[in-house]
Amino acid sequence: MTKRIYISDIHQHVGKTVTLFGWVYNKRSSGKINFLILRDGTGTIQGIVAKGESEDSALKAFDELTQETSIKVTGIVREFRGNYELAIQSIDIIHLTQDYPITPKEHGVDYLMDKRHLWLRSSRQYNILRIRSELIHACRDYFHGNGFTLIDAPMFTPSACEGTTTLFEVKYFDDKVYLTQSGQLYIEAGCQAFGKVYCFGPTFRAEKSKTRRHLTEFWMVEPEVAFNDLNDNMELAEDFLEYIVQRTLKNRKKELESLERDTKILANTKAPLPRISYDEAIEILKKENNPFQWGGDFGAPDETILANKFDRPFFVHRFPSAIKAFYMKEDPTNKKLSLSMDVLAPEGYGEIIGGGQREENIDVLLAKLAEHKLDPKYFEWYLDLRRYGSVPHAGFGMGIERCLAWICGLEHVRETIPFPRMLYRTTP
Ligand code: 4AD
Ligand code: MG
Repeated sequence: MTKRIYISDIHQHVGKTVTLFGWVYNKRSSGKINFLILRDGTGTIQGIVAKGESEDSALKAFDELTQETSIKVTGIVREFRGNYELAIQSIDIIHLTQDYPITPKEHGVDYLMDKRHLWLRSSRQYNILRIRSELIHACRDYFHGNGFTLIDAPMFTPSACEGTTTLFEVKYFDDKVYLTQSGQLYIEAGCQAFGKVYCFGPTFRAEKSKTRRHLTEFWMVEPEVAFNDLNDNMELAEDFLEYIVQRTLKNRKKELESLERDTKILANTKAPLPRISYDEAIEILKKENNPFQWGGDFGAPDETILANKFDRPFFVHRFPSAIKAFYMKEDPTNKKLSLSMDVLAPEGYGEIIGGGQREENIDVLLAKLAEHKLDPKYFEWYLDLRRYGSVPHAGFGMGIERCLAWICGLEHVRETIPFPRMLYRTTP
């Protein structure tokens, strides 16, 4: 009996006979030697099928093999010029694939997106999603390792967190609810029970934007800490970013190299990160002849101008209250400003983190709800947090796909999630 092993462990088996299960990535012949590239999800390996060395049945099977046919192969592991290869003895075809729709030729993105369930097998998509998996683990490990308790927020919610214009309404028996835009309001409750908490789940925005940064369903990781103010919040965000970026660089070096990502700017992601106020950001834009009006929100071109000033992610803090959500605390030194912060990624990627200090005073909060035309009846439970042991607190949310698009250096967020949901895409 030979042992079934994975390609990622192949180095432990040099000189031994092993069995691999996987799919045909490619094959070619040169003279009497046949080369088979096998992938098994943990990597790829070249197998050699040759007369005299391989069983006759393996030679016959090799001729039949098509791209993405699933097979079982047995052979001897050899090390050759620092690479591992398999001297194949036998090949068993598990399922013979016919006319695999994705070939090495160029396909359009729409076509590939329609075939997303198969496109995942391609090396570029494979590398991106391997990096995603590492990034998500790094986020969880950071919070878990720093004493945060995971508090999962619900997906069905009775009210808006981030404005009423991007809500997905869902029929809920005889009633209606909305898909969550953010778990924040719930982890605010969590931080008053557990001190330091985070949630991590899918979030939904009915955004009619067809940009390279917008998904209608995306994953957000959100910490919330009781007694933290805006400064503490920025310190937490930069420490968190340093950890997740450095760890991803270290553990997914090979994948980033395959994507030909220049990782120099990523490596600069170390605390402390630069901090500029909204007012300072406007000064920078004006110097660049950008006619930006105080009170507006930054668009992608503005963010790009700002980001070109820095060689690492940076904070913009104290945005006007009028362009931020109802829960943002006003700056006590200037009521027009909020104790908010965004982190912008360099290289034109824009906002990857949004957050700030929360309003803890019930009267101010009630006035804000009215200003934002939100019915206080749905926020009674949230107001309770300000009635019983209210404390200053702060937190932020990071969109995994925006952060990953930057880490991988991708044009569009659609490749950063296994099955993207966008304005015109809900399949496969
Ligand atoms: O800035 P946002 O809207 O902030 C919040 O939702 C806060 N409640 C978070 C908090 O303080 N706990 O969204 C946070 C992040 C953005 O910085 C961005 O990375 C991502 O979520 N994001 C999106 N990602 C992809 N597609 C979209 N449509 C996104 N909208 C926001
Ligand atoms: Mg934001």
